[in-house]
Amino acid sequence: MTSVKIQTAAPYAVEVGAGLLERAGETARSCWKGPAAAVVTDSNVAPLYLERCLDSLKEAGLRAVSFVFLAGEASKNGKTYLELLEFLAQNQITRADGLIALGGGVVGDLTGFAAATFLRGIPFLQLPTTLLAAVDASVGGKTAIDLEHGKNLAGAFYQPRAVLCDLDCLKTLPAEVFSDGCAEVIKYGMIGDEALLSLLNAPGEPDWEDIIARCVAQKGRLVEEDEFDTGARQLLNLGHTIGHGIEACSGYQISHGKAVAIGMVLITRAAASYGLCPPEVLPGLLSLLNKYGLPERTDYDAQALYQRTLSDKKRSGDHIQLVVPAAWGKSVLHSLPVGELETWIERGLSCRAQ
Ligand code: GLY
Repeated sequence: MTSVKIQTAAPYAVEVGAGLLERAGETARSCWKGPAAAVVTDSNVAPLYLERCLDSLKEAGLRAVSFVFLAGEASKNGKTYLELLEFLAQNQITRADGLIALGGGVVGDLTGFAAATFLRGIPFLQLPTTLLAAVDASVGGKTAIDLEHGKNLAGAFYQPRAVLCDLDCLKTLPAEVFSDGCAEVIKYGMIGDEALLSLLNAPGEPDWEDIIARCVAQKGRLVEEDEFDTGARQLLNLGHTIGHGIEACSGYQISHGKAVAIGMVLITRAAASYGLCPPEVLPGLLSLLNKYGLPERTDYDAQALYQRTLSDKKRSGDHIQLVVPAAWGKSVLHSLPVGELETWIERGLSCRAQ
């Protein structure tokens, strides 16, 4: 097992290893004093892992209840959120008790937001069951639900008390879902970890414990420097600005990981065309995406992507903060007048027939 410490105002540990689901009970016991734990999960994860999680909590002497909602981003809304809060009230969860997010990013975001707001804040644990949640959503304290006008528009910064990333849970992921997480892993390499890119490029099965821990450590450093996302943390958005435009254009039929993969390609190609990134970075990125089953192209045109990208939260006044690869394993922030974004997207798309 590997342990990564996140030194936010209230520090916590991210444990990465096999068999950690069985440690949910003892971890909850060490994270809050009350006698109860409410596990929040979805209809995909519940049949696989809920019982083991509840057993662990009960063995640790906790009163354990569970709230299961229909899997999918469409459930990450105000209705499910209010149902969850009512469930917690009905089950007499107090401020001394805690919540456990057992699942992927949707579960983690919704549970974290409920934890941040129920009784003005109660403890919670993250037990990510997807690669994407393990390396990104479960760490750093971004919690949210979607509004009709867009994703993650209501939320809070609220850190978990601990994160348990059980590698055994990743073994049941469908290949497509695992690939989605690989897009975020590759993103960490592109932002600031050349050695991670080499590990991903090496032949044979990667050591996922090491790789996940490296990603979490890098995220931890950025979150420690900029917990509330006003500076360095924005580097984590590599591929996300145009990626969110791609997701939105597809009516969220294109998954987050695939959209981020394409977003990274477009921004790298555009940056190279402006002379901001050496030309050899793009083929290196394309080869990695291909190795991990990720796409590199989109059929949406620059105007459509520009319109959908504009509604993204990352816009601030008349500028948008882009994350631009500046070398292999290094990205930088680049503030761009919003009016120039469409040309960047055009340049990013310009070789799509290759
Ligand atoms: N998912 C990006 C962040 O946590 O800042």
